[in-house]
Amino acid sequence: MSPRVRWMGALSRRLLCPRQRPLYAANTLALHRHFTSKSHPPKICVVGSGPAGFYTAQYLLKHHTEVLVDIYEKLPVPFGLVRFGVAPDHPEVKNVINTFTQTARSERCGFFGNVTVGKDVTVEELQAAYHAVVLSYGAEDKRELGIPGEDLHGVYSARDFVGWYNGLPSNRHLNPDLSCDTAVILGQGNVALDIARILLSPIELLQKTDITQGALDALINSRIRKVWLIGRRGPLQVAFTIKELREMIHLPGTRPRLDTPDYHGLVDITKDLPRPRKRLTELMVKTSLEPSEKDADRWSKADREWGLRFYRSPLKVLPSDDGHKAAGVLLSVTQLEGTGENAVAVPTGQVESISCGLILSSIGYKSTPISPAVPFLAKKGVIPNSIGRIQESPGLYCSGWVKRGPTGVITTTMTDGFETAQAILEDVKSGILDFSESRLGAAAIKKSLALKEIQPISFSDWEKIDEVETARGLGIGKPREKILDPQEMLAIISE
Ligand SMILES: Cc1cc2nc3c(=O)[nH]c(=O)nc-3n(C[C@H](O)[C@H](O)[C@H](O)COP(=O)(O)OP(=O)(O)OC[C@H]3O[C@@H](n4cnc5c(N)ncnc54)[C@H](O)[C@@H]3O)c2cc1C
Ligand SMILES: NC(=O)c1ccc[n+]([C@@H]2O[C@H](COP(=O)([O-])OP(=O)(O)OC[C@H]3O[C@@H](n4cnc5c(N)ncnc54)[C@H](OP(=O)(O)O)[C@@H]3O)[C@@H](O)[C@H]2O)c1
Repeated sequence: MSPRVRWMGALSRRLLCPRQRPLYAANTLALHRHFTSKSHPPKICVVGSGPAGFYTAQYLLKHHTEVLVDIYEKLPVPFGLVRFGVAPDHPEVKNVINTFTQTARSERCGFFGNVTVGKDVTVEELQAAYHAVVLSYGAEDKRELGIPGEDLHGVYSARDFVGWYNGLPSNRHLNPDLSCDTAVILGQGNVALDIARILLSPIELLQKTDITQGALDALINSRIRKVWLIGRRGPLQVAFTIKELREMIHLPGTRPRLDTPDYHGLVDITKDLPRPRKRLTELMVKTSLEPSEKDADRWSKADREWGLRFYRSPLKVLPSDDGHKAAGVLLSVTQLEGTGENAVAVPTGQVESISCGLILSSIGYKSTPISPAVPFLAKKGVIPNSIGRIQESPGLYCSGWVKRGPTGVITTTMTDGFETAQAILEDVKSGILDFSESRLGAAAIKKSLALKEIQPISFSDWEKIDEVETARGLGIGKPREKILDPQEMLAIISE
């Protein structure tokens, strides 16, 4: 018997107690009274409990007084990248969890964690059980560089590295090698800046966050003193944003290295740029060419540094003499064809190498198909859709990164989730979504899961885990100490 099934045995006993029944069960009876025999409350399920899933659910519940929403989540814990992506030293960003919690506590919302759609339950089963299914399962995979040496020791994807310091169960054993002096991050997006900041932050700042204790210990012993962020294009094409750059520039104990030749000549161009790009470029120019006396003085005393390197595209990870680990990266020097956001980096034929023992590939995330029954555009990594309505698939919708691609902050994802929810409600109103027939909803899915000995985790189960994590954190001055092992989470629930 697998450990998961064993735990589930204990769990199922507990989950049968009345407190654990979906909260909306009692209310459903009351709601039914408002419907004729031909009309039933729309039952909608959402796959994924990240911002897209929660915002879609929130909008549906707010704007339709009878709709019932169930959220299915692969992990035992909710909130997607808010828990496993957002940097631990950005706690204010995680406040959205309070709103998500209110949604999950609604009498008309059910939460089923520990259920992987596409494996434990199929999309077709969900379609049979619900009037509509919304796929909001994000972009969980990493984009690969596809260069020789990418699998050497010392090379990690940003996805795994972030997952490691944020307590993603599948990355808890990553144990990255931080024994070298120099790290190279390939990519110049906000994730790249997050990682650079975590690698270089003073420990006193990190130890007050919800970074995992294992990552904190590794960072205490880290020898990394220098971090290079490599972009294949130029300063006018960086993907990070001004707030994150400013934070990096002001990071205590560190000095930015923005080589002046990159910024000469940019001043004249900035005038014509859109405002956010203009301000971002001005900050880089100022930091490089006209630092204040105070900044220059602080930087002269710093013992760690980071820098931006432009017009360099990764060609190969260079191995150490014994061939086992990364010792550097070979870069192709590029130049731009075209201008602005759409400029393309083309190789000049020149190459250059940087010695380093740690390489982090931060070139973006990637969605994967969930089922052969759901159309998927492999090249773009999205589900083809029109305002969230999945093409040629009535009753199937999508929201968030799997709908739009793996870019955009939480507020972008919120707008996107609302847009999909609005499309669903329009379809309910216009009759495109037929809910004249009653659907079994969670009852059917729970039956199917029980046959496979899979017991879903309810939101109140999560709240027990949350309580334990918070209490463990309190003892050591952190907002929480995340539990890394799903088996331990299940044990807490079954206590
Ligand atoms: C490292 C990182 C840091 C970020 N930091 C910030 C920040 O500071 N501020 C900000 O505004 N934005 C930030 N973002 C962006 C923000 O996280 C995204 O906009 C948002 O999380 C996308 O929401 P989503 O719901 O589409 O995807 P996700 O948040 O990834 O949620 C998808 C959910 O679906 C679940 N799932 C996956 N497959 C299945 C399946 N088969 N069955 C059931 N469930 C499944 C996943 O476990 C996950 O819980 C960051 C992104 C990253 C990658
Ligand atoms: N604090 C925050 O608000 C925060 C924190 C983290 C993440 N986020 C958001 O989450 C989203 C994802 O962030 P992200 O950093 O993963 O992605 P991103 O913003 O898309 O940045 C990806 C970077 O990788 C580069 N890249 C892509 N393919 C490459 C290749 N083959 N070779 C070399 N470089 C390559 C890109 O350069 P090109 O431009 O040349 O393609 C870009 O610099 C973003 O919208 C981001 O703003 C926000």
